[in-house]
Order: sequence, then C-alpha cells, then structure tokens
Amino acid sequence: MPISSLPATNISYIGTPPLKERFPALVKNPDVIYFDNGATTQVPNAVLSAVHEYAGSGAANPGRGSYDWADDANEYVQECRSIIANFIGLSGENGVVFTSGTTMSLNMVAQSWGRHVLMPGDEILLCLSDHHSMTLPWEELAKEKQLVIRPYHLHANGSINLSDLQGRVTDKTKLCCVTHINNTAGWINNLTAIRDILPEHVFLNVDAAQGISHVPIQMDRQGIDFLSFSGHKMFAFGGIGALCISKRVQDNMRPLFYGGGMAEYAKSDPIYKKLEAGTLNVAGIVSLSAACKFIEDTRAQNPLSSLTRHLYTLFLSNPRIDLLYEQKPYALDHLSGILSFTLEGFDSGEVADILNEYGIFVRAGRHCAGVKDSVRISLQIYNTEDEINTLYNLLETIYESHA
Ligand code: ALA
Repeated sequence: MPISSLPATNISYIGTPPLKERFPALVKNPDVIYFDNGATTQVPNAVLSAVHEYAGSGAANPGRGSYDWADDANEYVQECRSIIANFIGLSGENGVVFTSGTTMSLNMVAQSWGRHVLMPGDEILLCLSDHHSMTLPWEELAKEKQLVIRPYHLHANGSINLSDLQGRVTDKTKLCCVTHINNTAGWINNLTAIRDILPEHVFLNVDAAQGISHVPIQMDRQGIDFLSFSGHKMFAFGGIGALCISKRVQDNMRPLFYGGGMAEYAKSDPIYKKLEAGTLNVAGIVSLSAACKFIEDTRAQNPLSSLTRHLYTLFLSNPRIDLLYEQKPYALDHLSGILSFTLEGFDSGEVADILNEYGIFVRAGRHCAGVKDSVRISLQIYNTEDEINTLYNLLETIYESHA
C-alpha cells in the first residue's frame, strides 16, 4: 500500500519524559519511536560518561604490564567484575567471564562445559521455540556426542509448561536450558520454581538476554549454574557480554580459545582466566558495569510493567490484531516488555516498513527463534504510553486504509 494514501498521524511529545532525557540518541531524535529494544537498547549518558572517563584517562592492556596504567586497567576490570557479580547475586567475582555477548556465552556452555562433561546418552531439556543461540549449540553437540535432547513445551501464553518440563526429567537428565524472558513471548518465567522441580544434580543454564534489564536475578539463591547476557540489550555497548558461572561448575570447564595470557594457565586459576584468552574489551566491560549500576539506579522508576499492561490491554481489544501467544487480561503482570503480533491482511515485513515511514522502529520476521512470522514490539524504560497509543492508532489507520 503506498504510504501517501495513509492519513497523517500525529506523532509528537509534550516535553521529553524524564527517563528518555538520559538517552542522548532519543533526545536528538524526538520524532523516533524506538520499539526494537529486544534487539538493541539505546545507551544512557551514565554509560557514555563511564566509558569516556576510562578511555580518556589512560587506556592500557589489563593483565599484561607492570606500569601504573596497566595496573589501573587491571583494577578497573576486576572492579567491573565485582559490580556485575553483585548485580546478578553471584558470590565471588571469579565466576564472571567476559564474552562478546549471549551467543558466545551460550556456545561456551556447550563447548567449554558440555563437550567435556556430558557422555553419550546424557539428556538435555530444551525448548525448541527458544532463541537459536540457545537451541543450536546443543542440537549440534548432541549429534556429535550422541546426547539426547528432550524438548519441553510452552503453554499457549508463552510461559514454560512446568509439568511438561518436570515429566521429562529422568535419571539421565544432566542439564536444563531455559530462557528467563523469551524474546517473542515476553513471559517472565519463574526461575526459582523451575529450579525447585529439578533434581539437585541437574545443572540449570539460563538465557537472560531479554530479562536482565527487566527483572532482578539472584544466581546463588535461585540455583542457576550458567547465566548469559549481552551488553547491547541492557544499555551497554555491543560486542560485550558475560557468562556467569556457579561455583559448582567452575572446575569442570575448559578453555574454548587459547591465546595471550594462557601459556601458563593452571588448573587452580580462577575460571575467568581460562575462558578469556587475548586482550579484553575494556571499554565494553566498563560500559557493562556502568549499565548494571544504571539499571539498579532506575529500578524504582522503571515503568515497564505498567507500559506492558497498557500495550497488551490495547492490543487485546482489537480483533484485527492476532497475538502470537494467547494472553488473558488477568495475567498481564507476568509479562514484561514484549508483544508479537500479526495484523489481519498484512504480512509482518509490510507492517514494519509502513511503521518505519512514520519513524516507528519495530522488528519483523521470525526473531531468530522457531516461531511464526510476526511483528515484535519490545519496550524499554524510555518508552511512554503516548508512544504506544501512537503505534496503536497508526495500526488502526493502516488497517482501515487497506480495507
Ligand atoms: N536476538 C535479538 C532479538 O531477539 C537480535 O531481536
């Protein structure tokens, strides 16, 4: 449908909302409505200033020199490790391993742990509609090592079906892979309840990429063995992320890469030394720890839960909008920031293209997961109810202009 045939809509703000003011890219582009936060978030001033301060006061290679700046770089990295460990409730910063992001972290669980620890016939619980970064590393390793994948299901609302999961546990189950907040459903899975139904010997591997900026995590308390997340989905830079590892698995992991700093690595070294070959991305690490502080500082003002409720309430009221997962108005508090849908008569790419013409950025497609083609709205703390209303009204207009 030609854009010129659509009536004009009114995309405007009265002033800049306070949380949005902290994000320079959004202040500079007041006509943009950014709804693709599940893919990448914007970077706040607090993170930009932390990186500016680090890089502007003498960058050096951590762990490689004995002069002052190199020592400072080392201290900087260790301080960031400790901030991140506190943020995710992991005792001891040694279990925080810096990676390039969730994809690398999840592959590392399979290659640095699974490859050495799992034996033919061992079973892995996996949800096949999770992100491919979670499913493919295990599907590939299973073929190679004759491991058994036992797929479990989601409910129609996108939450993990706990009784289905529990019914698939056997004596041979070694690992349970779960996504905290699925990147297409938005349901906040209860990690404590999942841990409670697993026998103690089953290791718990959590993809926290979508959830880490939405919901607090306590790794030790929740019995999580592996936790993966990416900087670029939590207000930090791209190319940095972490794999956080419980004490009970640290001794059973082997290096994935070999390089600088590894020639003399010893079994007794902290786990991060064995898994961080080469020079670290210090600017990225600084951005990641500054982002953790930012999330904690803004937790009390975080509007995601009411924004999510508003988004779903509007979309559920429209029969021309088909949600990918069935939601009930009384259960909306279990959702955080993500809604996937199709608009009757339109393919998802077409809807995203039209929205783009109006400065509304969303993702369309299958979202790197085994799900139906759809448009995805993913919210962050800087989004507003007005933006959601603008989106909704524009979808109505698009539909009516087409009908
Ligand atoms: N994995 C990212 C997403 O869900 C790119 O959009």
